[in-house]
Amino acid sequence: MAQEDVFKKLVSHCKEYGFVFPSSDIYDGLAAVYDYGQMGAELKNNIKKYWWDSMVLLHSNVTGIDSSIFMHPTIWKASGHVDAFNDPLIDNKDSKKRYRADVLIEDQIAKYDDKINKEVAKAAKRFGDSFDEEKFRATNPRVIEHQEKRDALHERYKKAMNDNDLESLKQIIVDEKIVDPVSGTDHWTDVRQFNLMFSTEMGSTADGAMKIYLRPETAQGIFVNFLNVQKTGRMKIPFGIAQIGKAFRNEIVARQFIFRMREFEQMEMEFFCRPGEEMKWFEMWKATRIKWHKALGFGDDHYRFHDHEKLAHYANAATDIEFLMPFGFKEVEGIHSRTDFDLSQHEKYCGKSIKYYDPELGESYTPYCVETSIGLDRMFLSVISASYTEEQLEKGETRVVLKLPAPLAPVKLAVLPLVKKDGLPEVAQRIVDDLKFHFNCQYDEKDSIGKRYRRQDAIGTPYCVTVDHDTLNDNCVTLRNRDTMQQERVPIAELNNMIADKVSIVSLLKKLV
Ligand code: GAP
Repeated sequence: MAQEDVFKKLVSHCKEYGFVFPSSDIYDGLAAVYDYGQMGAELKNNIKKYWWDSMVLLHSNVTGIDSSIFMHPTIWKASGHVDAFNDPLIDNKDSKKRYRADVLIEDQIAKYDDKINKEVAKAAKRFGDSFDEEKFRATNPRVIEHQEKRDALHERYKKAMNDNDLESLKQIIVDEKIVDPVSGTDHWTDVRQFNLMFSTEMGSTADGAMKIYLRPETAQGIFVNFLNVQKTGRMKIPFGIAQIGKAFRNEIVARQFIFRMREFEQMEMEFFCRPGEEMKWFEMWKATRIKWHKALGFGDDHYRFHDHEKLAHYANAATDIEFLMPFGFKEVEGIHSRTDFDLSQHEKYCGKSIKYYDPELGESYTPYCVETSIGLDRMFLSVISASYTEEQLEKGETRVVLKLPAPLAPVKLAVLPLVKKDGLPEVAQRIVDDLKFHFNCQYDEKDSIGKRYRRQDAIGTPYCVTVDHDTLNDNCVTLRNRDTMQQERVPIAELNNMIADKVSIVSLLKKLV
């Protein structure tokens, strides 16, 4: 099945089974804003717990906070967001549609890549086992021509972005004859910068309302609390501050479901260290974070690092962890060495010292900082897309199953009485009442047992137990495994022992140490 179709199915599966709904659905939705339903909220909470515990429980020098969304507006001046948190936008005069100029050019680069990949795939098919891809790429005239055009375009684009040169971005679009996919014309306006922050007003107008922003990242709430946490927590460098919370960006090209949203959630950690030691910690956090991702068991080939070519003005090293989504490798997490930029800027703008006195060195300095920043919604998308499976069963039947890692699954155990009579529902309900203190259980008595299994497969429940007439005599139930569909007879008294460890976040955390 084409990846595009898989993605469409995934989006409708998320809606049908209560994972993700369009926001304001009964009013036909609000673009790039989504609500998490009853299953989605559980999955999201489990991802949060996995991240939070891995940061705060496993690292004695990392502590967590929860800062407010509204902050003093000068914070965003100091951080550079007021002046530089922009996207370069261009409008098509015929369709009146607005696009990100950088995205139009990146799509054009991707078209050259597609052409090259098609030539390579064709040749691989023609030559079979004797195909030497490296030699083909180096010698085939059509591939060489596409590659040269691609590289030249990429160089021009990189320079225009680095120089913040909007005229050159427009010229690239003209020279490459890029047309609007809607109108098909090249009647473009000039490229303009557009700030991504949402603003609102605090206080009544009569009092003199103050323009404030909805935070575009949670990180600044950590930087402005650096001294508060360091002093009250008696933290010694190196140490980290973690936070999970909402962020808001007025994304112009919002697409791909929950990949790019206007309201989203971040899980960020700022790790403060001595100046000059930041590269050591940058490498350490790169290794720590990729291990966290890989522990979920989706396969190491689903991840890659992508080092930034264009470093933000505050960074001296930056890489992304990319995940193989149904629409290709995409950024899920950024790891940045942010130097002392943020703390120094806040020191300058607030006029107060934000230095750390290092008792071992006997001197004060502005700490350097390594940041790990992961989008919770993107993580959710990566987990659910890697878990979504369609299996062909006997008799032409298809089973849709979410092979979620058990510790992340919204429901851990479904308890199903075989029939709605003869005292079986009562026994099943007693099992739920016993186990609900340990993990999330669901009781279901409606429809045939086969249909009930399918419903649980579709929401990723790792275990189901069936209560039948024998249960009344032997106090045993049939335990079914979601992935293997194998069933075994087990005593009710053993259920907690058999399941609790496997569905606990602790089982994931243990893989990290
Ligand atoms: N404090 C650094 C920072 O905010 P970023 O690369 O802009 O860096 C970090 O964002 C992460 O937040 C990204 O890797 C991505 O997972 C997530 N993210 C950013 N913009 C997003 C959006 N519009 N929708 C969903 N997730 C987003």
